[in-house]
Amino acid sequence: MRSPGLYRADIESLRKRLKQSHKPVPIVDLGAGSTGDISTVAAIARRSLKRPKHARALSALCQHIASRNTLELGTSLGLTSAYLAGPSTQLITVEGNPHIAQIARGHWEELGISNIKSITGSFDEQWDNLAASSIDFDLIFIDGNHRGEALKSYIEKSLPMLSPNGVIVCDDIHWSKDMEAAWSTICAMECWTLQMDAFEWGLLTRNSALKREHVRIRF
Ligand SMILES: C[S@@+](CC[C@H](N)C(=O)[O-])C[C@H]1O[C@@H](n2cnc3c(N)ncnc32)[C@H](O)[C@@H]1O
Repeated sequence: MRSPGLYRADIESLRKRLKQSHKPVPIVDLGAGSTGDISTVAAIARRSLKRPKHARALSALCQHIASRNTLELGTSLGLTSAYLAGPSTQLITVEGNPHIAQIARGHWEELGISNIKSITGSFDEQWDNLAASSIDFDLIFIDGNHRGEALKSYIEKSLPMLSPNGVIVCDDIHWSKDMEAAWSTICAMECWTLQMDAFEWGLLTRNSALKREHVRIRF
């Protein structure tokens, strides 16, 4: 298994190709207001994926905290998963649309990545299975179903599975008023030490070695 730095160019050339692909993809309604029956790979690649600089930042975070177990909620076409996968982390990624999950698995095969565990199903269906696996996650990346109530419930479900120094990254905390309100409610929880608003996402940890603070950064 190569480290992400070594296949970054391959991921980015795949991204370019996907943005031109008119391959149809059936839409599955996962409760977040998806519209229409059919999309295309290009539309998904343009709309849903983390941009390269954000995917690289997440990958750097994953390596910096030496995450042994990483959970991604929202696989999509699997490009950020490819950045997060590495020789020393076990990545589990969950996707509710089986057509998209299958495409993502094909991408990892093409990139030569073999250690991603892909789970197909809605997040709500999968919490019990994830909890039963007794894995302590060092990094949990929540990147699907951008509704405030859903985000709050995902944080609640994630906490028992988060290692003591683990980090939760919530995507798109400024995507809507509803998401901003949820982020404020989550930040008011006593358990966190560091809370970071990086605009694109919010980062939370209970790591007791860190000073209790709420910081804002832009990059
Ligand atoms: C923003 S995309 C993920 C992008 C991906 N993390 C990346 O950066 O490449 C969100 C994905 O989550 C999936 N999703 C949304 N709500 C879901 C739910 N309730 N259960 C399972 N999957 C869901 C969608 O089908 C979509 O593919």
